[in-house]
Amino acid sequence: MHNLLTRVNNLSALLSSCLMGLVAVIALSSFLIEANMAAPKGVVSILAIKSAPAKTPHFRVRHQDVTFTKFNITADLSTLFHWNTKQVFVYLQAEYNNTQGVHNEVVIWDKIIHSKDEARLSLVDKHKYAFRELSTSFENIEPASYALKYNVMPYVGLLTYGEAARSEEPVAFPEVKTLQ
Ligand SMILES: *[C@@H]1O[C@H](CO)[C@@H](O)[C@H](O)[C@H]1NC(C)=O
Ligand SMILES: *[C@@H]1O[C@H](CO)[C@@H](O)[C@H](O)[C@H]1NC(C)=O
Repeated sequence: MHNLLTRVNNLSALLSSCLMGLVAVIALSSFLIEANMAAPKGVVSILAIKSAPAKTPHFRVRHQDVTFTKFNITADLSTLFHWNTKQVFVYLQAEYNNTQGVHNEVVIWDKIIHSKDEARLSLVDKHKYAFRELSTSFENIEPASYALKYNVMPYVGLLTYGEAARSEEPVAFPEVKTLQ
């Protein structure tokens, strides 16, 4: 009995180390593929931005400006798809320093890409998530950069991150117009 248990133990230890080895090989080889792969390239441009003071439903809450963004994305992410790619999460991020000197990164649009066929992006769209400045106002904030970033989710291994495009020049926030 003792003997049998020991054997079962040894066998399962062997099997699990084989499995770990296999997983490590898969993760390593997909890492090597990615390291040698052409980085995806794209173009991001901001077509229009409008800012408006938010109407907050609560009496005591101070108003925060809200920004509406229209953008144009052209990018080819198809090189990110290989046998160990489950899906790619792509997002457009506004990056700016507020007047307190805090660096903010705000995701204003995202998309999950499931296959190589969907990986060539060419779209003019507007933000999915309107963004607010927590210090209440976009006034006097330096122009923002807009970056198209991605996460590659593999079947096995670690997430990898990258940047496919960035607006050529920082884009100024418009003057806030009061909504009537
Ligand atoms: C969007 O960007 C692409 C690539 O830069 C450009 O060819 C196209 O004309 C742009 N479309 C608009 C509506 O700005
Ligand atoms: C924010 O400030 C940092 C350092 O002060 C600077 O390197 C960076 O370029 C600034 N970012 C923007 C979007 O202006």
